[in-house]
Amino acid sequence: MNLDAKTKYSGLAMLLHWLIAVLVIVQWQVAVAAEATPDKEAAGQIMGNHFAFGVVIFILVALRLVWRLISPPPPTVSGHGPWERLLARVVHLTFYALLLVMPIAGWIALSTFGETISVWGLFSLPPLPVPQNPTLGETIFELHGAAGIALLVLAGLHALAALKHAFIDKDGTLYRMLPFGTARS
Ligand code: HEM
Ligand code: HEM
Repeated sequence: MNLDAKTKYSGLAMLLHWLIAVLVIVQWQVAVAAEATPDKEAAGQIMGNHFAFGVVIFILVALRLVWRLISPPPPTVSGHGPWERLLARVVHLTFYALLLVMPIAGWIALSTFGETISVWGLFSLPPLPVPQNPTLGETIFELHGAAGIALLVLAGLHALAALKHAFIDKDGTLYRMLPFGTARS
C-alpha cells in the first residue's frame, strides 16, 4: 500500500504538470529564437513551431483540467496558513487562465491576418471568422507577449515557493508533485 496516496497528486496530474511546465519554457525560447532571427522567412518558420506548441499546450491544459475534476488534488497541507493557501490557489488559477486564454488569443490574432495554424502538418486550425484587421492582430500579439512574460515571472515565483517549502520549511509540499519522496497532509 502506498502511504502517500492521499497526500500526492495522481501520476497523470504529475506527468501533465511537468510536461506543461517544460513546454512553457520551450515555447518561450522558441518565441525568443524567432524574434532574434533577422531573416523574415526563417523567423516565420520558427514561429510556426510556437503556434503548433501553443495548440499542444492548450490540449494538455484542457486534459489536465478534465482530469482534475475526475481525480481532485490531495487536501491542502495542514501546516500552510490560510494566506498561503489562498495565494497558491490564486496563482494556480491564474496559470490555468493564462494557459487557456493565451493560445486562444494567439489564434484570434493570427485569424485577423487570415492565417491558418498548422500543427506540424498533422492537422490545422483554420482562421476564425473574425474581420481581417492586422493592426488589431498586432495589438493582441503584443498583449499576448506581455502576458507570456507575466506567466514566466509567476512560474519563477511559483518554483521559488516550491523550493522554499522543500528546503527551508521542509514540509514535503514539493513531493506532492513528485513520484518520489514523502508528502505530508
Ligand atoms: C499556452 C500557449 C502559449 C504560450 C505559453 C506562449 C508564450 C509566449 C511568450 C512567453 C511570448 C513572449 C516572448 C518574448 O517576448 O520574449 C510569446 C510571444 C508570441 N506568441 Fe505565444 N504563446 C503561446 C501560444 C501562442 C499561439 C497559439 C500563438 C499564435 C497562434 C502565439 C503567437 C505569438 C506571437 C506572434 C508572439 C510574438 C508577440 C510579440 O509581438 O511580442 N503564441 N508567446
Ligand atoms: C511553467 C512552469 C509551471 C507551471 C505553469 C506550473 C503550474 C502549476 C499549477 C497550475 C499547479 C496546481 C495544480 C493543480 O492543483 O491542478 C501547480 C502545482 C505545483 N507545482 Fe507547478 N508549475 C510550474 C513549474 C513548477 C516548478 C518548476 C516546480 C518546482 C520547483 C513546481 C512545483 C509545484 C508543486 C510542488 C505543486 C503542488 C502545490 C500544492 O500541492 O499546493 N511547479 N503548478
